[in-house]
Amino acid sequence: MKILVVNGPNLNLLGSRERDIYGGQTLADVQEKLQELADTLGCQLFFFQSNHEGELLDEIHSRRTMVDGILINPGAFTHYSYALRDGIAAVNLPCVEIHISNVHARESFRRESVLAPVCLGQISGFGLHSYLLGLRALVTSISETSYS
Ligand code: DQA
Repeated sequence: MKILVVNGPNLNLLGSRERDIYGGQTLADVQEKLQELADTLGCQLFFFQSNHEGELLDEIHSRRTMVDGILINPGAFTHYSYALRDGIAAVNLPCVEIHISNVHARESFRRESVLAPVCLGQISGFGLHSYLLGLRALVTSISETSYS
C-alpha cells in the first residue's frame, strides 16, 4: 500500500513555530516516526510539504495514480481552501485530515474545515501522535474496503 503524506503551509517550521501549541519536534522527526510506523504496517510513504496551494494540488494530482490514499495536515488551508477541497474530491482517493493541535479548542475560525466533508475523517489534538493515529486509521480503512 502506498500513502502520500501532505503537509501544508508553515508546517516546515515545526520545532520552532509556536512550540507551546505545536511542540518541539520538527517535520523531519514526524516523518521519521511515520516511516517507522509505515515499516511495521508494510506500507510505502511519499512525503511532501509546501507553503503554496498550487504546489500541493500539483503533487496530489501527479501522485493520484501511484498511491492508495492521502494523509494530510492542510495547515491553515483547512479552513478556507476550496481548491484543495476540490482537488481531494477530484482524485477520488481515501483521505484522512489530521491536526497537531485541537482545532476545536482554539480560535473560532479553526473550527471549520472545508476539507473534512471530502475526507474519511479528521484527527485533531493529539500532537504528533495525530499523524500516527491518522496513518493507522487510513491504512485500516483502505484495507477494509475495496479501495486497495
Ligand atoms: C494545524 C491547525 C491549523 O489551524 C493551523 O493553521 C496550522 C496547523 C495543526 O496541525 O494543528 O497550521 O493544522
